[in-house]
Amino acid sequence: MAKRKSSFICQSCAAVSTQWAGRCESCGEWNTIVEELTDSGIGAGPKSAKAGAQSAQLVPLSGESEDAQRFQCGIKELDRVTGGGFVKGSAILVGGDPGIGKSTLLLQAAAALANQGKRVIYVSGEEAIAQVRLRAKRLKVEESAVDLAAETNVEIILATLEQAGGADLVIIDSIQTLWTDRVDSAPGTVTQVRTSAQAMTRFAKKTGAAVVLVGHVTKDGQIAGPRVVEHMVDAVLYFEGDASHTFRILRGVKNRYGPTDEIGVFEMTQLGLKEVHHPSALFLDQRDEGAAGSAVFAGMEGTRPLLIEIQALVAPSPLGTPRRAVVGWDSSRLSMVLAVLETRCGIKIGANDIYLNVAGGLKINEPAADLAVAAALISSLTGAPLPPHAVYFGEISLSGGVRPVVHTSIRLRESAKLGFKNANTGQLGKAAKQGGQTINEFTSLEQLAGRIAASKKG
Ligand code: TYD
Ligand code: MG
Repeated sequence: MAKRKSSFICQSCAAVSTQWAGRCESCGEWNTIVEELTDSGIGAGPKSAKAGAQSAQLVPLSGESEDAQRFQCGIKELDRVTGGGFVKGSAILVGGDPGIGKSTLLLQAAAALANQGKRVIYVSGEEAIAQVRLRAKRLKVEESAVDLAAETNVEIILATLEQAGGADLVIIDSIQTLWTDRVDSAPGTVTQVRTSAQAMTRFAKKTGAAVVLVGHVTKDGQIAGPRVVEHMVDAVLYFEGDASHTFRILRGVKNRYGPTDEIGVFEMTQLGLKEVHHPSALFLDQRDEGAAGSAVFAGMEGTRPLLIEIQALVAPSPLGTPRRAVVGWDSSRLSMVLAVLETRCGIKIGANDIYLNVAGGLKINEPAADLAVAAALISSLTGAPLPPHAVYFGEISLSGGVRPVVHTSIRLRESAKLGFKNANTGQLGKAAKQGGQTINEFTSLEQLAGRIAASKKG
């Protein structure tokens, strides 16, 4: 008998090594390397390829093409993130922490599509049929014509789908429970997850069904994370949220058929996920208007404006190394803003403990939040509350200058709509001003600091 071949594969980043190690050299994660048999399937090398394979047909780039055919489920926040609906023949990965609401969202989408007369098959590898039915009852969609199957073997799933005569939408919940006979590794390992995902992607391309793969984000590396299949699917959506909040955000991070950076906002309720069409109003809902250290940031998520409260607390520190705690923003970005405040504006802030929080459990990645963060910090340090109807946005440069950012007019329009009459930003030039809105343009952070300090005296 031929010697069985095995490799050591990191379950977090899928790096392959020849021997086991406690720490993956590629991604730095601990305890993620698992031995997998790689006799066949992915990783088996060229000798497993069929001899005498046919050649592919070459065609000119300039040929006829069709637009992607889509179907919308009617849950607008989901349709927005997919770029206008599910694309026929495409594979979509929906990732997220366990318990965040992936199965709930997809069951709601499945029911909505089935109600439109689409053929939807929901394959649950994690929950028994009874559990899925119970959830459907809770969501009040138990009458929908969704077909269920509880199965984890890829070959059986494919045979079932073939027997069913195809489908418009197939949901696989989750990809980590799937296993195929073609590889020997245990379910949940990189090789299994990849080979299974590949089989499902091929099924989508071949039959024109849209396939949704659910993937749990894993922390300890015992099972492969959704990252290892990101490259083979057409779109990747991540479902995020904070366990202590009811908001859930569906974020597109890759989309071959539409925009990325779009978000869909949902609220988890007793009756499942509810769409939030006006997230700004929701995120500002419980704002403490008169408090020092609170600034409203006019942000952008994809094409969509979003007003978000940023809270800062600057407190004298008893420690030699003051504490910095940041929730929802980049901590190195905070260090930069603090350094600019110290050295360019002469504000003594570095020796304090500093806490920064983005309200509502949201995560902000935009540099445009710099100005709002700086305003919240100065306000907390000086004890001067910011004007209640003011928004802030702008990027701060290392020289202490304030730079204008993209999508100014959309940000201004959203602020005006929600009654924020005063906008503070970098120099705009001829940007479209909204009626009745005053705009303070700052060229340097020092000017903004001066204005906040002056409001305290005045
Ligand atoms: P679920 O969709 O099972 O999460 P995932 O598939 O991402 O693991 O959602 C689980 C959580 O959602 C669970 O803690 C209960 C909560 N939930 C509600 O609050 N309301 C509902 O109507 C449903 C169905 C779930
Ligand atoms: Mg689930």
